[in-house]
Amino acid sequence: MKAARDGAADAEVNAFWRFYGVLTACVHAVHTLCMAKIALIPCVTGARVGKSPMAKPPAKKKNTSGRGQRDLTVKVKTARGRKMSSTLWLQRQLNDPYVQRAQAEGLRGRAAYKIMELDDKFRFLLPGARVVDLGCAPGGWLQVAIPRINALGERKGKPVGRIIGLDLQEVDPIPGAELHVLDFMEDDADLQVKQWLDGEADVVMSDMAASASGHKQTDHLRIMALCEAAAYLAFDVLAEGGTFVAKVLAGGAEADVQRLLKLKFKKVANVKPPASRSDSSEKFVVATGFKGRS
Ligand SMILES: C[S@@+](CC[C@H](N)C(=O)[O-])C[C@H]1O[C@@H](n2cnc3c(N)ncnc32)[C@H](O)[C@@H]1O
Repeated sequence: MKAARDGAADAEVNAFWRFYGVLTACVHAVHTLCMAKIALIPCVTGARVGKSPMAKPPAKKKNTSGRGQRDLTVKVKTARGRKMSSTLWLQRQLNDPYVQRAQAEGLRGRAAYKIMELDDKFRFLLPGARVVDLGCAPGGWLQVAIPRINALGERKGKPVGRIIGLDLQEVDPIPGAELHVLDFMEDDADLQVKQWLDGEADVVMSDMAASASGHKQTDHLRIMALCEAAAYLAFDVLAEGGTFVAKVLAGGAEADVQRLLKLKFKKVANVKPPASRSDSSEKFVVATGFKGRS
């Protein structure tokens, strides 16, 4: 009798340890999966494994303005160690049709489409143009400008342009561009640019932006200071009829820059190109018909 009771007890203990073993294995497997940084969860359509969602350009959907469409199709799981803000940034990048288009077309960033759209509207990047690109890293604007101004002389019979790019950061070489590392806010930076240019320019363009501080007013003032410094270089180097293009952030100091530019240019336009994200206060000022220095 006692032997039978002992046998049943042993069987219960064995069953318990088998169950415990299976449970531990499951917990371990779930833990391993969570620790592996499988961050991307293709959750709806268009993000099939092994097939780039960029294979086809994204179709424009109804009820969107088309400005930096953000109909999210890929969600990013908050991975360990990544801040929520970085996760949101990554999610926005992954779902931005301009980012995808830039990758597909070999352009160094979505910013390239802003200058493309501005030039399509105002036509200042003409064959033979002499251009200064302030804040040119990583080089998207340069990539757009080089063929348009014929900097490589590929369009036979058309005048050959020239483009000088400068930035705080080093830029990987781009055939057709003269690249320099310079802090444009340093004393005498404008003299340095004039020396490199060694003559007049037809276009001065600036996409300069200081890194965002998170404080709206501070960011606004910093960008406007960069824009104003770029405008003073333009007044010094532009040939009569030349064009000045610069990034601005909507806000108080914008009106001062507008007033300044209206004194020196025949037309001053404020433009938000479709490639500029609709949720940012970024705009571009395009001043055409420089009146000259006299
Ligand atoms: C938005 S990015 C420019 C993108 C560029 N247009 C393109 O298409 O690749 C702004 C750039 O301005 C540069 N920048 C900011 N302050 C600057 C300064 N004081 N002097 C030179 N470059 C500056 C930054 O280093 C950054 O690379």
